[in-house]
Amino acid sequence: MSIFKRGVYHDYRIILFYSTGNGLHITKSIQKKLIENNENVTRIAINTLDLTKPITTTAKHIGIIYPTYALTAPAIVKEFANRLQVSSSPYVFLYAHCGGGAAADSIYSINRILYDNGIHVALKELMYR
Ligand SMILES: Cc1cc2nc3c(=O)[nH]c(=O)nc-3n(C[C@H](O)[C@H](O)[C@H](O)COP(=O)(O)O)c2cc1C
Repeated sequence: MSIFKRGVYHDYRIILFYSTGNGLHITKSIQKKLIENNENVTRIAINTLDLTKPITTTAKHIGIIYPTYALTAPAIVKEFANRLQVSSSPYVFLYAHCGGGAAADSIYSINRILYDNGIHVALKELMYR
């Protein structure tokens, strides 16, 4: 029996939107790192959610990963941010990626919608290629 007790420390919900696959690749890399750190990760594609209703979660750790479209976040991600309802004050991170153009609004817009929704974002990352 190992003296190292490996345990699951946190439950992460990673919500992602992707089209060409970059976002899926990035999400898998982040997921792998979290799992290496014994975190438990559930990956959810935004397009599997019913965005006509509120999206409620009790998750304490939430990551949102998405690309930049037309200088901002995709409309479906904005809709998701609008619909998201959390039951406590979760740790939320945003990870937006882009093709190298102007992309600051992809982070700003989602941060703003979540803020207006009473959700604080702890970490914001924008990755340029
Ligand atoms: C319709 C469309 C619009 C895009 N608009 C921008 C943009 O305004 N600025 C930018 O830097 N990249 C832009 N890109 C590039 C993507 O943000 C980038 O390739 C991203 O990593 C794609 O993620 P995905 O493969 O997960 O869909 C655009 C891509 C597409 C398909």
